[in-house]
Amino acid sequence: MTSRTLPGQPHIHYKDGQLCVEDCTLEALASEHGTPLFVYSKASMLAALAAYQRGFTGRNAQICYAMKANSSLGVLQVFAQAGCGFDIVSAGELARVLAAGGDAGKVIFSGVGKTRREMREALLAGIGCFNVESEAEIDVLNEVAVSLQLRAPISIRVNPNVDPKTHPYISTGLKGSKFGVAHDRTLATYQHAAALPGLHVVGIDCHIGSQITLESPYLDAVDRMLDLVESIEAAGIPIHHIDFGGGLGINYNGDTPPQADALWTKMLAKLDARGFGQRKLMIEPGRSLVGNAGVCVTEVLFMKPGEQKNFCIVDAAMNDLPRPAMYQAFHDIVPLEQKKRAQPDSASLVCDVVGPVCESGDWIGHDRPLAVAAGDRLAVLSAGAYCMSMSSNYNSRPRAAEVLVDGKQAHLIRERDSLADQMRGERLL
Ligand code: LLP
Repeated sequence: MTSRTLPGQPHIHYKDGQLCVEDCTLEALASEHGTPLFVYSKASMLAALAAYQRGFTGRNAQICYAMKANSSLGVLQVFAQAGCGFDIVSAGELARVLAAGGDAGKVIFSGVGKTRREMREALLAGIGCFNVESEAEIDVLNEVAVSLQLRAPISIRVNPNVDPKTHPYISTGLKGSKFGVAHDRTLATYQHAAALPGLHVVGIDCHIGSQITLESPYLDAVDRMLDLVESIEAAGIPIHHIDFGGGLGINYNGDTPPQADALWTKMLAKLDARGFGQRKLMIEPGRSLVGNAGVCVTEVLFMKPGEQKNFCIVDAAMNDLPRPAMYQAFHDIVPLEQKKRAQPDSASLVCDVVGPVCESGDWIGHDRPLAVAAGDRLAVLSAGAYCMSMSSNYNSRPRAAEVLVDGKQAHLIRERDSLADQMRGERLL
């Protein structure tokens, strides 16, 4: 028996020539459930979480999974059972947390555009904290809380003006971004919030971007945040917790982000040095908990060699895997049968892997050497984050099914959309 893991994905490996997630072969799962099919490893999610937990040993820290990365109920249940809180951005996400057995008291509500209805629902559910993003939002949240005779626990999301050196669409902590309150407006905004009867200031928050692969932006953000905490507390407003957001990157294509525990050792050393080591800490990781825990299995429909380009047309598309089209993102693509991995000396074809959607932007990988034929199955790697949660029904394609593997057990956590699912709620004239 031979076993070989893929870089960055210890629970996704070839065993006896077949790609497996933990102890389940993907061929068997694809034959049972069809393709495209997302398959996740529970052990991989828990291992990613454990890296953060190790980093926080002996500290007062709350990990709030940023569920926008993957909000399927079965995935949320894994994190709820592991004791996580959740970072949400809508009432829909709150409803999912509650449906998955999550604790409302450990929910933090981020986002620049919360509606009054969403504020009301979150207040009535008793969430832990609103991460407020503007002065206008502070006044509206105060009004809503007063009308319910409640006090809303708040953090102000600060824009620390730190460059995370990532894709511009997922950089959020620079001046000129729509997120957070500007660094130089922070103290005045806290003073305003602290004077309102419907609000209770509990913390401070930042989130500088996503798929961050350097530690320096985080370390810079610590200093800028602590400077602010000192000035806010000097003005008589206690800050009970400091939230450093999410954003830690994963290995998609040889990327080498810091490991969560190593990063936090350095962050905590800085906090300790400035006397904040025992302060309650919050973080909002998304991608780094689930990204490398998932693959999307797809079947080759046709090979289409051409004069300028060869195409490998598969049954997954930009509606299932929107990241390449949206951010020119790289996802590795490997065959389920190890012997079909392209070797330098084999008869492989360099292809663009594309889906059936009627757009040239519908591509999953460019210029990939492949030694496969129609009917073979491929796995698109690192597909646990921001794939299913950003999927759509574009071209009236059903949203894919999802399986969560736990050792030898495979749980179907989402059925493929039926046609009735797709048309639900629509009416003829
Ligand atoms: N907290 C807040 C306030 C956020 O906006 C985000 C992500 C996170 C936490 C979690 O960040 P993470 O740890 O996952 O990097 N769709 C894009 C990523 C968008 C990230 C949006 N905000 C992608 O596929 O790359």
